[in-house]
Amino acid sequence: MKNIDGLEITENISSKRILDIKIKDEIINELTDLFKRFDLTAIEYKPFTRFTVAKYLDDLTNNELSKYLNNILRDRKTGCFIIGPEKLTSDTDDIFLVKLSTAITHLIGLPNHDSMSGKFYARFHVKHEDKSDSYLRKAYTNLDLHTDGTYVKETTDWLMMTKIEEKNVKGGESVMLHLDDWEFCNELFNDPIGRKNFIWSSPKSKNVDYKVEHPVFTNDKNGLPQISYIDQFPEPKNMEQGLFLQKLSDALESSKNKVITKLPVGSAIVANNHFWLHGRTAFRENTALIRELLRIRGSFF
Ligand SMILES: [Fe+2]
Repeated sequence: MKNIDGLEITENISSKRILDIKIKDEIINELTDLFKRFDLTAIEYKPFTRFTVAKYLDDLTNNELSKYLNNILRDRKTGCFIIGPEKLTSDTDDIFLVKLSTAITHLIGLPNHDSMSGKFYARFHVKHEDKSDSYLRKAYTNLDLHTDGTYVKETTDWLMMTKIEEKNVKGGESVMLHLDDWEFCNELFNDPIGRKNFIWSSPKSKNVDYKVEHPVFTNDKNGLPQISYIDQFPEPKNMEQGLFLQKLSDALESSKNKVITKLPVGSAIVANNHFWLHGRTAFRENTALIRELLRIRGSFF
């Protein structure tokens, strides 16, 4: 396992493809001081300041962290890590976590504009009650396996999901599936229907007023499968496409090789969006349940 001063790096208990990275107190303490130089408005209004906070973080690891995170995300064998403070204190509050998430993502690439929030990141809640128009905030339904950015023009090479806080939560675990672990990958990847264009749109809350066209499966530069798929947003235009999508959805959800892992509060899961799918199990019903998440999606430098 890689050794970087100030970090504790281990293999995730549920998957050897996922690395767990704990940032030790010595780094967190220095970061909380350094981050005080900028408030959230500066981070939101001045894109260059996002690189400054990223550099603070990288400098504290002798510039090892940026190289390491990029290696993990681009490596087909891994492609995913969970990162967060070793310990949470009153200093590692929601503002700190937004800045830390900003710093981590700016070591990897450039975030896409998130139309749902109008910023480079989006914070949102999952609660007992929900009147929204997508599965994202529906606590008691599975959020089925999918990739992000299926209905936007921007490239989405990676995504980050940070758990800012949660209360009264049982269930709602992260579900991850690596294409190379998926039993049905070859069968679906080799179906010619999946290589033809589908139309993708999105519900109102996403604030994206156009549709895009792309296939479900493509090849990476080594000929390996890549997927861009979510159940709610493709518009099948005939029986062939409809049946293909149903088969794909069933084959993903019935996989026995899904990784189910509980993301600690304050931690972020970051994954390559071309060969990892992600989702969430249903929450146990509780009228007082609340979870706040932060998401950032983007492209590699
Ligand atoms: Fe997602």
